Amino acid sequence: MMAAIACAEPYLSLHTTLRQSLADRLGPGIGIACTGVEGDPRRLYPEEFAAVSRAVPRRQREFAAGREAARQAMAQIGWAPVAIPSAPDRSPVWPKGLAGSITHSAGACVAVVCPQSLWQAVGIDLEEDQPMEPALWDTICTPEEAAFVNTQPAVLRGRWVTWLFSAKEAFYKWQYPQTRHTLEFQDVRVLLPHMGFPTNFRIVQARTGTTPGIRGECLARNGHLLTWVIGNV
Ligand SMILES: CC(C)(COP(=O)(O)OP(=O)(O)OC[C@H]1O[C@@H](n2cnc3c(N)ncnc32)[C@H](O)[C@@H]1OP(=O)(O)O)[C@@H](O)C(=O)NCCC(=O)NCCS
Repeated sequence: MMAAIACAEPYLSLHTTLRQSLADRLGPGIGIACTGVEGDPRRLYPEEFAAVSRAVPRRQREFAAGREAARQAMAQIGWAPVAIPSAPDRSPVWPKGLAGSITHSAGACVAVVCPQSLWQAVGIDLEEDQPMEPALWDTICTPEEAAFVNTQPAVLRGRWVTWLFSAKEAFYKWQYPQTRHTLEFQDVRVLLPHMGFPTNFRIVQARTGTTPGIRGECLARNGHLLTWVIGNV
């Protein structure tokens, strides 16, 4: 029992820290829940459970944690609990008038929701703040981003790629409900900062090249990197 408490404690503090930091940055009117990843699949609505009925138990618990977090976040902004099924492409089907996003890491799950009268869409991504494996750098970075990463101190390069990865994942989740576009990492370009790890950034779809760039934000807390994009197309 003691061991379980000792293991859970860093995550409890992570959940509180992430929730508070996000709330400070996003402001009022937005529901935010940060929880663990051990949800209870028995609490899923039948139409939700259908998405994970054949998944391994760990994935079922992770999926259930996301739905529970989403309903906690909805309650904060006065929305009654309803089913949030998964579309065949795995994207969550939010109730009409609500935008939302779910992300999980090994120890935390984050859900953010807001009425679409405030913002049309939100995309959020949580990663462990660890260097990205070098074999993946060229997949994730455009040539311009890779050139930038190579100007950084060697010990930081892998973390820069993790940051670019997270920014692109958050952007993908933000744009998908609005456009239904599937994108590759090379389709998306992060406008790079002049110095240091940024707290906000601009990101464009390189395929069209003409978008002015939606603003994203990020924060690094307790060994995790949380990145989000919120706004209208
Ligand atoms: C959707 C995707 C970005 C999720 O990222 P991930 O690192 O696997 O996992 P996360 O925990 O951060 O997010 C998973 C959640 O994203 C949500 N999600 C899945 N597909 C989505 C989509 N198309 N649009 C918005 N949200 C989506 C789901 O809620 C999912 O959790 P759930 O299945 O438990 O409900 C990723 O799985 C994917 O499909 N990538 C392909 C596209 C891509 O990455 N292109 C390069 C970036 S531009």
